Amino acid sequence: MPDKSWFLHDRFGLFIHWGIYSVAARHEWIKSREQINDADYQKYFDHFDPDLYDPAAWAQEAKNAGMKYFVVTSKHHDGFCLWDSAMTDYKATNTPAKRDLLTPMVDAFRNEGFKVGFYHSVIDWHHPEFSVDGFHPMRDDVEYRTASQNRDITKYCEYLHSQTRELLTQFGKIDLMWFDFSYSKRDWGWAKGKGAAEWDADRLIAMVRELQPDVLINDRLEIGGDFKTPEQYQPAGRMIVNGQPVTWEACQTLNGSWGYDRDNLDWKPVDMLIRMLVDAVSKDGNMLLNVGPNARGEFEPRALERLRDIGAWLRLHGRAIYGCGLSDFTPPPDCRFTQNGNRLYLHIFSWPFRHLHLSGLGPRVDYAQFLHDGSEVKMSVIDPHQPAQNTTLGGLSSDTLTLELPVQQPDIVVPVIELFLKS
Ligand code: GLC
Repeated sequence: MPDKSWFLHDRFGLFIHWGIYSVAARHEWIKSREQINDADYQKYFDHFDPDLYDPAAWAQEAKNAGMKYFVVTSKHHDGFCLWDSAMTDYKATNTPAKRDLLTPMVDAFRNEGFKVGFYHSVIDWHHPEFSVDGFHPMRDDVEYRTASQNRDITKYCEYLHSQTRELLTQFGKIDLMWFDFSYSKRDWGWAKGKGAAEWDADRLIAMVRELQPDVLINDRLEIGGDFKTPEQYQPAGRMIVNGQPVTWEACQTLNGSWGYDRDNLDWKPVDMLIRMLVDAVSKDGNMLLNVGPNARGEFEPRALERLRDIGAWLRLHGRAIYGCGLSDFTPPPDCRFTQNGNRLYLHIFSWPFRHLHLSGLGPRVDYAQFLHDGSEVKMSVIDPHQPAQNTTLGGLSSDTLTLELPVQQPDIVVPVIELFLKS
């Protein structure tokens, strides 16, 4: 089993969806959604010229945001490849970019201490042997569909395996392999979604593990994997499979789209993004937060602003996130707990009036302070010999710890109180 300890420690990563769909600037599924044929999609290939691309700047921004690993789309569903693959001409080197865009990105992030991951699409709307299924851009063109009935998925499968081999042999140590997309249960009547058998997933995973024994593989090949990947939602609690807690990473967008989406109005406010990260860690999970760089090769201002604000919060609150996980204590309403050994972190999502009551923690806590400035938070436990006090306070039990807060919330999006547990 590969070692997951870095993944469980780091908790926060950057997802990057970048390809020629950033030229269209309206979601990475545009070729399928708008049912665009190869000839019409070609204009995005012909105009992909990221002249401002500076991977060192991306890595710097991600580092300042507090992210520790990154996962980039080597190839998305449209089949376009960011690296100089020997298996295809449909790659960055043949666009006006005229160069491999992946190698410098891997180098730049690795230089900043990042772990490296590749997202690789197992479906492919460009490859001539990939089946025309119900997601394929040409699905409603009956003539095209009929003509494509003899496509040989085994040839595509070999292409997928060969490209995966390139990715795992030409870029040094790879820490994560993030395959997408699972849809074996889809049935359109005239076509069915592909699954593990079509990708020869057992053989694919065996090759990945042989080439990169330490790599962590996600679950989307539909035959297990090292971690689960809830997409654009926060699990209700710790993720349990067959009665056992599992490693998981929620992948989340800034605005609902993965690829650059110019006119999108669903941008999440920064306090929500921070609460999502905290929520993930409080349930023993990670968060992989996506940026879709634009066609000039930049992170847009709306993304940068959010990354920087998250980074400002993490600079002060990193020790409530990295190395932390779920706590056995139950937090009060509108709060989350994360824990690392005998440090318990109380993340306050909604500011209460004066007091927070922590059930069961009365006998357990030595000291309490705000994390952002190290200032003491006064605490008290009711005296079991003075039952009147109990009544006045509304029926608290004697094992409840009461924290006394200022009336005004400190100027911090999500304030955190660090509790030192008695050993
Ligand atoms: C989905 C989508 C996709 C995105 C991904 C990220 O499966 O097809 O566009 O890359 O999930 O989780």
